[in-house]
Amino acid sequence: MNNHAPLIHCHGVTKRFGSGDAAVLALRGADLEVLAGELLLLVGPSGCGKTTLLSIIGAMLDRDAGDCEVMGRDPRDMNATERAEFRSSSLGFVFQSFNLLQTLTAADNVAVPLLIAGERRRRAELRADELLDDVGLSGRRDSLPAQLSGGQQQRVAIARALAREPPLILCDEPTSNLDHETGLEMFELLRRATRPAGRALVVATHDTRIFAFADRIARMEDGRILEVVDRNGMTGNGG
Ligand SMILES: Nc1ncnc2c1ncn2[C@@H]1O[C@H](COP(=O)(O)OP(=O)(O)OP(=O)(O)O)[C@@H](O)[C@H]1O
Ligand SMILES: [Mg+2]
Repeated sequence: MNNHAPLIHCHGVTKRFGSGDAAVLALRGADLEVLAGELLLLVGPSGCGKTTLLSIIGAMLDRDAGDCEVMGRDPRDMNATERAEFRSSSLGFVFQSFNLLQTLTAADNVAVPLLIAGERRRRAELRADELLDDVGLSGRRDSLPAQLSGGQQQRVAIARALAREPPLILCDEPTSNLDHETGLEMFELLRRATRPAGRALVVATHDTRIFAFADRIARMEDGRILEVVDRNGMTGNGG
């Protein structure tokens, strides 16, 4: 295997919500490294801190203590404008609830990040069509989210996350609303879209069926990463 510099480096990250008796220590010293080109699964019981850690990595939430570098930058050092720019240019997000804009067609949902980035409408539309084609939805470009199945909406969300070709994609429970077959399809799609481009993919999930797609699996419990298992090392399958 190649030696990659870590794209994400977290060490001793802590996060507390609330105060006094109501305080919840969501992260209690989480350590995580994510390498370019890998698919890392973040697994662990509900409430162990997966979404909190992804939110800190994605500059959506500030940590209390510890170190965190994402692509060489500390999210905590960025002001609001820099965060927004960092999120839209360097990160792709795929959420459990898809977060599609309900009044826009599939193609327009995918084109939005490109238009925000200043791309001309015509070019953004062409690129959106290509991306929808890649996720097997070229026939549904004019459909509204409500006219699409859960799996199809999730594919639109993936196309949108890939639109600006971000080096890092963060997914929070992307398959939990999907049936088995659609969930597996989703992962094959993410894998195909990310591996050749050397993009890193971090996926928080309860879904044991998708373990086979991971390079490494980080087991989280009670606000910490307990162990990271290298599936490539175990199976000898370097992909
Ligand atoms: N905004 C918040 N305010 C207060 N407590 C919170 C907040 N967000 C998360 N928590 C608490 O922090 C802990 C970690 O939550 P988090 O959402 O990171 O868990 P998770 O591993 O993503 O769980 P799940 O698998 O259910 O999505 C939980 O105890 C949760 O209740
Ligand atoms: Mg969560």
